[in-house]
Amino acid sequence: MEQELIEIEESKDSKRRKKEIKMEKQEKTIYDLPGVGAATAEKLIAVGFSDLMSIAVATPAELIDATGMGDALAKKLIAVARSSLEMGFESGEELMKRREKVLRIKTGSKSFDSLLGGGLETGAIVECFGEFGSGKTQLGHALAVNCQSLEKDAVAVYIDTENTFRPERIIQLAKGAGLDEEQVLKNIKVARAYNSDHQMLLAEKIEDLIKKKGMNVKLVVIDSLTAHFRAEFIGRGTLADRQQKLNKHMHVLLKLADTYNLCVYVTNQVMAKPDMFFGDPTQAIGGHIVAHASTFRVYLRKGKKGTRVAKLIDSPSMPEGEAGFYVDENGLHDVE
Ligand code: GTP
Ligand code: MG
Repeated sequence: MEQELIEIEESKDSKRRKKEIKMEKQEKTIYDLPGVGAATAEKLIAVGFSDLMSIAVATPAELIDATGMGDALAKKLIAVARSSLEMGFESGEELMKRREKVLRIKTGSKSFDSLLGGGLETGAIVECFGEFGSGKTQLGHALAVNCQSLEKDAVAVYIDTENTFRPERIIQLAKGAGLDEEQVLKNIKVARAYNSDHQMLLAEKIEDLIKKKGMNVKLVVIDSLTAHFRAEFIGRGTLADRQQKLNKHMHVLLKLADTYNLCVYVTNQVMAKPDMFFGDPTQAIGGHIVAHASTFRVYLRKGKKGTRVAKLIDSPSMPEGEAGFYVDENGLHDVE
């Protein structure tokens, strides 16, 4: 009897395994590419070519640099990756349906919200860049609180790279928003990232919170997105490496935003632009990689009398513009 049971268990197990293998087959990985052994696959993954899409859009030179493979093989891999990808075309109608699900997280300032079309959109990456004290971290805290008004069980994930997350501040803001402080704190999951690799790993783990723990994550804050990358990759020689890692990181975030209809809010510092004599002599760290991956880009600066000014730099459908606001104990507010 016992023996029988074990056999039944085993056959169930093997059926499940077969099913899993079948599913894996349908979802091809870079290991399925011809001529890619474990060592080459590892080299590819190490520099960010972790899925077929990244290979399909790579140049042969990039693959050769990453692995030392020959030109012919590199070209072949790209061709195979391209042909095996199902290009996901969606009809305009389907996209419109998806747009209807977009939620908007309020900043607290009506004029700032309007600048963004009613708040920070889910399904998008919103980047705020600006000098120290311009309000990037304050906005991150406010969003972590305000996103909880969207849905009853909404969760904010906060990846803190500069050790500036303060639960005390969350309590103040929750009171300001008229929400239950304890509940709000409970629904913010904070992780401190100690270096850029750690930061990337944490971002990859967010999917587990959603899939395995069933959390309704509606906001991911990364404050700061670029500080570790900037500190670790000093000098021009490693700039390409830095950009490649940052690119991979941005793609993980973009996929999260897209797949789970959540908003990713990232902060970014600015650096002086030495060759610029007129206008605002600052530019965001991370260059075009961060700029292109972000759906909305907002430049924050200090205004008159302690106010702050948000300027919309890049957005898919909103006109460029500016909004003034100020920060106090209760959160962000319009300038009277
Ligand atoms: P860096 O991280 O240094 O680049 O700056 P940041 O852009 O993150 O600035 P942050 O959001 O920390 O802005 C802090 C500013 O918010 C302070 O300089 C204050 O002027 C302003 N602020 C206004 N009211 C409050 C408040 O009640 N608490 C806090 N912590 N800050 C407030
Ligand atoms: Mg900050």
